[in-house]
Amino acid sequence: MVAKRRLVVANWKMNLGVHAGSVLVHHLSKQIESRRSVEVVLAPSSLLLQPLSLEIDRHKFRLAAQNAYFKDSGGFTGEISFTMLRDLVHYCIVGHSERRIHFNEDLVVVREKVAAAVRNDIVPILCVGESRQEKRDGEANQVLHDQLVSALANLTSLEIADAVIAYEPVWAISTFDGELAKPAEVAGRLQFIRRQVADLYGPAAAQAVRLLYGGSVDNHTAKGYLSLDDCDGLLVGAASLSAPKFAAIVEAAYKSQHELRAKGGSAA
Ligand code: PGA
Repeated sequence: MVAKRRLVVANWKMNLGVHAGSVLVHHLSKQIESRRSVEVVLAPSSLLLQPLSLEIDRHKFRLAAQNAYFKDSGGFTGEISFTMLRDLVHYCIVGHSERRIHFNEDLVVVREKVAAAVRNDIVPILCVGESRQEKRDGEANQVLHDQLVSALANLTSLEIADAVIAYEPVWAISTFDGELAKPAEVAGRLQFIRRQVADLYGPAAAQAVRLLYGGSVDNHTAKGYLSLDDCDGLLVGAASLSAPKFAAIVEAAYKSQHELRAKGGSAA
């Protein structure tokens, strides 16, 4: 088994201005200084990407955009293209359920965005996940299947191997005092996702693609998800706005990475 480097992504969503973002980066870098074997990615709002980029680089974090438009340029008022972001960010979140729900992004738009990210040398962090109703109706795996097949349709096996897929059940996002996804349930879904990638793109791509879990992850629950065989890291929303909470999540990732390597996985 190859122990991949853990990946922890902070999705700040529509929070924090330039000053508050810069203060958070400063605190974070101090609190996770010795945990740099974990890959830590920060996804601030678009407004903060340019002003924070040098600081983020200096502190050895990686930068992600939360969204971009799939056309390269033109009459698309208010949008930022992947082309404009290509030298600025390493990753871009694509297909987050908040964009699918509030901005009507359908399967076709998500597919175009994944392709545009890859075309511009930006690694997509593709979010997939079922709604509460779909889960109740026993359709979760079908939904995951459809979202994956559609979003990955234009990619090669090598491009898939580089990509990141985040399983984010819609019913578990931002529900800290409500229903959390149980690690055993997440284990089954992550395994299903990896198997789908294997069926579609072969075992090498399936083994290499990094799978994250996201949905109300905090400093208390991180460890349970990180201990799952198919979980390579976490996508964290609300808890990433707190330096101590997010640092504790990175610490959990660091420990799980070392436990895995001690069990015999070599570093990738
Ligand atoms: P949450 O957000 O951790 O606040 O649930 C996760 C996400 O939406 O990516």
